[in-house]
Amino acid sequence: MNPKTNLLPKNADGCPFLILAPMEGVGDRAFRKAMAAMGGFDEAVREFLRVPRNPHIPSLAQGYIHDEMAPFRLAAQIMGSEPGLMAEMAQALENRGAPRIDLNCGCPSNTVTGRGAGSSLLKEPRHLYEIAKAMVQAVKIPVTLKMRSGYEDISLFHDNLKAAEESGVEYITLHPRTKVDGYGPPARWDLIAEAKSILKIPLVGNGDILNVESALKMLKETQCDALMIGRGSVINPYIFHEIKAHFSNKKYMSQFDLETYIKVFMETYPEENPVKSKVNKLKQLLGFLFKKNTALQGMRMEILTYQATTPESLLAFALPKLQENFS
Ligand SMILES: Cc1cc2nc3c(=O)[nH]c(=O)nc-3n(C[C@H](O)[C@H](O)[C@H](O)COP(=O)(O)O)c2cc1C
Repeated sequence: MNPKTNLLPKNADGCPFLILAPMEGVGDRAFRKAMAAMGGFDEAVREFLRVPRNPHIPSLAQGYIHDEMAPFRLAAQIMGSEPGLMAEMAQALENRGAPRIDLNCGCPSNTVTGRGAGSSLLKEPRHLYEIAKAMVQAVKIPVTLKMRSGYEDISLFHDNLKAAEESGVEYITLHPRTKVDGYGPPARWDLIAEAKSILKIPLVGNGDILNVESALKMLKETQCDALMIGRGSVINPYIFHEIKAHFSNKKYMSQFDLETYIKVFMETYPEENPVKSKVNKLKQLLGFLFKKNTALQGMRMEILTYQATTPESLLAFALPKLQENFS
């Protein structure tokens, strides 16, 4: 077991620990590098590494690069359903320098849940306990767990929280929607408050934090120990700085412009990506940035349907609009 150090320290101004959420398909390496250049958060979590039934653990573990976001710490997250393999994978990631390993109990994808991993672990608290415990026993670094509020409903919510706590994980991150909810209905922050009142270990609140106001509201309503932000950071990469600035009573003055942010993103994204062209990848990022406010939202479709042959021409078209209206 690890010595119980405070893994979620507040900063000198009392701002809670801020974590950049894992986001498979959106929060990839290019996004993480751009966010690392932007800064403001305290730690990030890589999207899940899947641990299938017949894995070759060493090659799977190579997907994780511990200093990819330096100077920021990047936690590894794993998803699977077999305790022995999950423990082995946790060890492999510890050997690759991971500062912490997170167990994914939230992914709603049917291809994942069909195989008994991700959010389907929430159907069987005992199984969730066994996997988390196997991981905790296998490594010296902290093991944590990220969960939704349930699978079809929240009937096992308390049992899952208790199972997680008893397994020895250091803290839990709660995204308070069920698997069936997907991303539809608003996150139920009342469940974060409820979990906080039950748990002895720390709790990270997550879900629908889009600006400083909603961050403060979640802290007030739930008393959670730290915050994790996903989509809010893709829409507004300054969000972490803005939250920190609120606690230091300063207005955040950007030292880093959006053009540089997007350029780091584009430089990191591989030219020959087999899945998505660079233009489409840039459109995905711009699609989020153009959700920031009403003025930008009005131009979003124009950007997404713009016939660009190169990322540079798309950027030349989109950037002036973004810079003028991003506030
Ligand atoms: C595109 C996308 C991919 C995601 N991938 C992961 C993942 O790999 N692991 C995970 O635990 N959660 C994943 N999530 C869930 C987020 O980490 C987070 O819990 C959720 O988006 C709610 O937080 P938000 O409202 O701040 O975005 C993903 C969410 C999105 C939108």
